Amino acid sequence: MSVQVAWASDAHLDQAGWRLGHFYDALALLPSMGYRRLIITGDIATAETVAPALLKMSRTQNLGIAFVLGNHDFCYCHGLGDFTAIRRIVSKIPIYLHEAEEGIELAPRMRLVGVDGWFDGRAGLRLAEAPILEDIADRDTALLECRLQKILGNGDQDIVIATHVPPFPEASLHQGKPSDPKNAPLFCNVGLGKMLRRIARRHPRVNFTVLAGHTHDPADFQAEPNLRVLVQAAEYGGPSFELLDFDPLTRFPTRKPGLVWKKPS
Ligand SMILES: [Fe+2]
Ligand SMILES: [Fe+2]
Repeated sequence: MSVQVAWASDAHLDQAGWRLGHFYDALALLPSMGYRRLIITGDIATAETVAPALLKMSRTQNLGIAFVLGNHDFCYCHGLGDFTAIRRIVSKIPIYLHEAEEGIELAPRMRLVGVDGWFDGRAGLRLAEAPILEDIADRDTALLECRLQKILGNGDQDIVIATHVPPFPEASLHQGKPSDPKNAPLFCNVGLGKMLRRIARRHPRVNFTVLAGHTHDPADFQAEPNLRVLVQAAEYGGPSFELLDFDPLTRFPTRKPGLVWKKPS
């Protein structure tokens, strides 16, 4: 039997307007369709609104949420908030993957782990802020590496990784093409990609699937035979989600549209 999960990224619920009610209504239908787990890969709302939004989603009957935060979730209207304080607030809502050391079991020998992640400034042109970005991003990368080593040290199991920023330039797209050198530093977490390649090569019998967002441009990149990166499309004002069915043998997912909004023409 396939493992079925719903996946939402970059819902930006603070900007959803009249579509917000439709989004929550659609989530409520998921369990009856066989999807009892919703993975959320950040940019849920803003620092002021992310906790109430998560609380509301967590109260959907028979639907377990598991989430990481994106850069917008740390932003107040006047600038970047205190990471520790915001993380402390959302950690009270289950399940904040960034703080879940062992992740969660999606199925026998299949585990979901996650860290928030950040763009690390290493792709494209070098920015003056690059050292700060590297520092923020690399802390999460180190945290994830440590967890993966521990989990896989106890035996092989397939891994799904939730994080906000795509870990490879090939998965960090703008209008279907890799981000240009000016924007690329803000849309990719290169250090995370390097670490994931290393771990994937070390564990060839384990299949790794990365779920990310941030760019709002869909991508599907096979970085290694056993490492695949999916990035979800998103639109401000149109919160949506995808449905993923993981093959019981390969443990790689098939993507299906869940809730989709079409751009007004
Ligand atoms: Fe976003
Ligand atoms: Fe983002």
